[in-house]
Amino acid sequence: EPEGTEEPRSAVVTIMGHVDHGKTTLLDYIRRAKVASGEAGGITQHIGAYRVHSERGDLTFLDTPGHEAFTAMRARGAQVTDVVILVVAADDGVMPQTEEAVKHARAAGVPLVVAVNKIDREEADPDRVKNELVAREVVPEEWGGDVQFIPCSAINGQGVEELLEAVALQAELLELKAVRDCPASGVVVESSLDRGRGPVATILVQNGILEQGDTIISGTEFGRVRAMLDERGERVKSAGPSTPVVILGLSGLPEAGDEVLAVEDERKARELVDRRREKSRDKRLQAQKA
Ligand code: GTP
Ligand code: NA
Ligand code: MG
Repeated sequence: EPEGTEEPRSAVVTIMGHVDHGKTTLLDYIRRAKVASGEAGGITQHIGAYRVHSERGDLTFLDTPGHEAFTAMRARGAQVTDVVILVVAADDGVMPQTEEAVKHARAAGVPLVVAVNKIDREEADPDRVKNELVAREVVPEEWGGDVQFIPCSAINGQGVEELLEAVALQAELLELKAVRDCPASGVVVESSLDRGRGPVATILVQNGILEQGDTIISGTEFGRVRAMLDERGERVKSAGPSTPVVILGLSGLPEAGDEVLAVEDERKARELVDRRREKSRDKRLQAQKA
């Protein structure tokens, strides 16, 4: 835990649910409706996270497929998600990956909001979804439980505003905090190699303020933040807690779930990274022997 003064921060949200229940369609709808696209000559490629505004406060959506992101991050000890939106298609009901998502969220102690999706379909049966989830101890508020169920359609947008409000309300109850007056730290959401720009990483700042020009380490990579872009592809000079940014300037590709840490200077960065690289080399050699 970083030392410093705790201040409120906005929530980080992951969407989970069974195959084809509408996770991507819902994310796309929210992105289109809530994130104005910029033309500022920035990155137009896919960015793994974005921030949306709701009346109750900002929300940061992780765009990576929920299960993979969750598993990869948790495997590295990174806890990034504050609220899970569990998407259940109302014409299909609870399926194996729905149950798995409930288990993931429970294990991580993360509250759920249920998006009862595809409500526009004739075969939609929202009560069936409720009943099937109650059987897994996910009980709707209107039935005496503590989970909000929001009927919605990711296709026509019906209920999406209510869904965002429900998530923001859930987040409010968590009273999420971060430290701002400490060295910046965060986690890698995704990374890729761009032909022109070199290694590009989407990171979520969790504490401190990351600034352009900062020296950072992540996994066994390091570098100076040459440029930072927000989800619109627009240049930003700094990013505080719960803000996703794309950064350029790393020496190589860190992995999703790797921690990002601002350090004093390049000498310190090299020292830390050399030690880590040595460690991972030893591990590899040992694995080869075994
Ligand atoms: P995977 O990533 O493969 O697990 O699927 P997904 O959960 O991301 O589902 P996706 O968004 O790809 O949607 C699957 C199909 O359902 C697509 O054909 C969507 O157009 C459709 N779909 C998604 N949401 C809705 C909805 O609210 N109503 C209707 N009618 N169709 C929907
Ligand atoms: Na799909
Ligand atoms: Mg998808």
